[in-house]
Amino acid sequence: MDLTGKHIVLGLTGGIACYKSAELCRALVKEGATVQVVMTEAAERFITPVTMQALSGRPVYGSQWDAREPNNMPHINLSRAADAIVLAPCSADFIARLVQGRADELLSLMCLARPIERVPLLVAPAMNREMWAHPATQRNLAQLQADGAILLGVGSGLQACGETGDGRMLEPEELLEDLVAFFQPKPLAGRRVLVTAGPTYEAIDPVRGITNLSSGKMGFAVARAAREAGAEVTLVAGPVDLATPRGVSRVDVRSAQDMLAAVNARVEQASLFIATAAVADWRPANAADQKIKKDGSGRTPELAFAENPDILAAVAQSPRAQSGALFCVGFAAESHDLLAHAQAKRARKGVPLLVGNIGPATFGQDDNALLLVDAQGATELPRASKRELARQLISDIARRLAA
Ligand code: C5P
Repeated sequence: MDLTGKHIVLGLTGGIACYKSAELCRALVKEGATVQVVMTEAAERFITPVTMQALSGRPVYGSQWDAREPNNMPHINLSRAADAIVLAPCSADFIARLVQGRADELLSLMCLARPIERVPLLVAPAMNREMWAHPATQRNLAQLQADGAILLGVGSGLQACGETGDGRMLEPEELLEDLVAFFQPKPLAGRRVLVTAGPTYEAIDPVRGITNLSSGKMGFAVARAAREAGAEVTLVAGPVDLATPRGVSRVDVRSAQDMLAAVNARVEQASLFIATAAVADWRPANAADQKIKKDGSGRTPELAFAENPDILAAVAQSPRAQSGALFCVGFAAESHDLLAHAQAKRARKGVPLLVGNIGPATFGQDDNALLLVDAQGATELPRASKRELARQLISDIARRLAA
């Protein structure tokens, strides 16, 4: 679980988005965190402490005069125990209170009393779009961040008031993803990473094409792990039905030629290129402009193929890759003799690191096993979730980049 061992103090302030905090609390607990809920009086107008206690499994705190604490100092005890304080939702009023360092109720008092170097404060604002855009709020947000708080969001869209715009609290799953990322080490901070993922689709005619069973899951997990590690990540994705990892910029492509063009347009800025895409080796040489029709004669169409460009091999031959300014990593999906094939592929592609996996055991699955092959030999990453393997791979690559 991604938050095992983490103790989160979840603060709720007055806003309709409190209904999402119940789901967030559940999600945090499900990922292994312990959650201590603290609510303002206004928050208790929107959702009851009963709900939050049931979901967190701990009595909720709401008053600085709470006598349950032996020393009667809940603001000290709660903040010292936290790995992070997360305010979701955080109202415009509460942001103003934090900026002013107010301390006349438990939640703001606790935020002020937290050991600022050790206990991060993450703030998920939620408010009407006019309140969000108001210079006072924007000024307060800038000051809050200058004071060390981390901003989560905001989202945009239809608001409870019926207006549409910025100011929505992020969805619970988005907040969870950002929080998980927050706790990951940042060995790729300052780096730009380019990742290819998914299959390609090679048109036969306007309604038919050739593709493969790659789900894109491994590549998306690699992009997410790179972003969690602090990199600025661009993900060039073939046709897949997967959500874009938070904070990753995504470029959708269809064919191998599209993918090559998208990679070429971006690879100059990158210092790490990870090719996980299952690029089609061949494409129909002459895609028909119109749908190829059955004519009733029983004759089948003749398909001729052309070889697709090898994106990874081309990038690995570039002067930047050759000089070491760009580190290239390839993947190989094999059905047998993984080590031998991966070693041969590493040499053929001219990359320092090649990651082997067994195709039928990975396509579409949520878990996988990897074999990291370099000039020195091979290292196995035993079967685990793709998310976990992607993190291990990224931390391995980060060590190579640092060396
Ligand atoms: O040759 P093969 O397809 O097995 O090589 C796999 C590796 O090369 C993967 O990293 C894949 O993303 C990359 N590749 C590519 N362009 C191709 C074929 C493969 O970038 N046309």
